[in-house]
Amino acid sequence: MAARSVGLLTRLPLCSQRPAQVPRPAFRLLSCPGTVAADVRSEEQPPDCRKAGSEDKAPKKRFSEVQKERREQAQRTVLIHCPSKISEKKFLKYLSQHGPINNHFFYESFGLYAVVEFCQKDSINSLKNETHTPCLDTEAVIPFKSRFFNLKLKHQSNRISEPLCTQSSSQSPPSSKKLFELLNYAESMDDQLNTLLKAFQLTEENIKLRYLTCSLIEDIAAAYFPSCVVWPFGSSVNSFGKLGCDLDMFLDLDEIEKCDVHKNVGNFLMEFQVKNVPSGRIATQKILSVIGECLDHFGPGCVGVQKILNARCPLVRFSHQASGFQCDLTTNNRIALKSSELLYIYGSLDSRVRALVFSLRFWARAHSLTSSIPGAWITNFSLTVMVIFFLQRRSPPILPTLDSLKSLADAEDRCVIEGSNCTFIQDLNKIKPSGNTETLELLLKEFFEYFGNFSFNKNSINIRQGKEQNKPDSSPLHIQNPFEPSLNISKNVSQSQLQKLVDLARESAWILQQEDRHQPSPSSKRPWGLTTLLIPTAGSKFLPKKKRKKPVSERVKSLLESIKDNSPESSTNTDGKTAMS
Ligand code: GTP
Ligand code: MG
Repeated sequence: MAARSVGLLTRLPLCSQRPAQVPRPAFRLLSCPGTVAADVRSEEQPPDCRKAGSEDKAPKKRFSEVQKERREQAQRTVLIHCPSKISEKKFLKYLSQHGPINNHFFYESFGLYAVVEFCQKDSINSLKNETHTPCLDTEAVIPFKSRFFNLKLKHQSNRISEPLCTQSSSQSPPSSKKLFELLNYAESMDDQLNTLLKAFQLTEENIKLRYLTCSLIEDIAAAYFPSCVVWPFGSSVNSFGKLGCDLDMFLDLDEIEKCDVHKNVGNFLMEFQVKNVPSGRIATQKILSVIGECLDHFGPGCVGVQKILNARCPLVRFSHQASGFQCDLTTNNRIALKSSELLYIYGSLDSRVRALVFSLRFWARAHSLTSSIPGAWITNFSLTVMVIFFLQRRSPPILPTLDSLKSLADAEDRCVIEGSNCTFIQDLNKIKPSGNTETLELLLKEFFEYFGNFSFNKNSINIRQGKEQNKPDSSPLHIQNPFEPSLNISKNVSQSQLQKLVDLARESAWILQQEDRHQPSPSSKRPWGLTTLLIPTAGSKFLPKKKRKKPVSERVKSLLESIKDNSPESSTNTDGKTAMS
């Protein structure tokens, strides 16, 4: 097992064996009402699930505002590994000596951790001044000082025997059994979709922990690039993240350039003396390489560091032990951040969008249409773009096209990244809500019918124009990259995987057409509605016999094919980070 190294107790690994991935934390929230993250203003909460048509009238924050606020919050926050039984009152009193605390929460992840947000950044320096690097008899420590501390109790009186806090709630996603129970007790299919969203969406505490993890990594990267920023992107911030999803991080070095542009005034032009390399790609590889080394050797809690530098989009992958997040750090990947912003806008415009996307992501996972490993299957990102496209095609449309979001843009929204025009309106409040009042039940059924009958062999999916277009190449599934129109985000998907998706969509549409299958039946314990669609075996009995299961040899063959499709030489890798298209 890899050693955990923290501010107060920094250890060298006991042995070099490293787990590729740390187990996810149970993430039991232990907190007191009144001081906890649950108290944060409601606009900071992830968009909640509401009934179709009942939109929240409160002004919605821009993506950049949310990112900046949360980053600033994270900079005032520390992570503390605590003894398992600790007096919360004494703990807070002790920390308050360093300044007022804005909020805090505890969670369990193979040990007890506290996330403590001070009101002022200075408090962290004060706490650091009182902290020491541990001395070990048998091992040498690397005296790396971070905001990740280890708390030791000097006196037993600081322990408590009763449960830690007055109120505790679980942050881990419900088990499948619990989920099916919740879904069965729902009143309608719409209620089922909203229930699933509520149960699995990222919680306020989980979001805070994601930003804090980025902030801790930023501190390490700042040793080389003092003004860098590490932004979370992907499902951690695009409003479609489910508890347990990976943490995609973008190391932003351009922030440095942005600051410097304004300094070029007067007759003198000062610039940094820098080293040059032949291409941006080589620069990216060099930067990630040193940061990867640094995380591996000195990053408290960073284990299983892998440098995947030859991928189309080079990255450093590692596990952050205390938070349990599987992290992917990239740089020079600004378009992905912009894609996250676009998805955030689409997810915030209408409450049905997230409920539908969550359920379809679940459906796809339940039927092994998606996987956590890269391959010839569709990714969550591509599936989400398919849902957005479908919602643009409704009459009246539920979501606007990207072109219409561009037409609403002001001068301040203008954004060109590496020659690609990524301009769209950033202020959500200026986008007119849809007049469409279709129910989630109808939309789910229609989604399956729409893609069960889509001419994938002829047409491409294009959310920029919101209409089908002739496919420019022979890839089985063509989904135009919103910001780089010549690229296909689902180039990795094989014909057999696409066929599987189509078959399952048809089958699901058929199930939903059966009157008795989508009537609530809470008392009978018989699966109904969405539950029926999420049970992999239940569906297959509706398929013609020959389609139920391929012979083992065929399944092995298609697996081998997908692995081959996904070889590093191939540019059709599905992993968003290893092959951005
Ligand atoms: P999950 O991690 O599966 O929950 O979803 P995710 O949206 O975070 O996907 P992933 O971690 O695979 O990728 C992170 C982000 O990278 C996505 O949200 C997109 O913004 C971007 N991305 C992923 N795949 C592609 C791709 O093929 N092309 C482009 N242009 N961007 C991609
Ligand atoms: Mg992700």
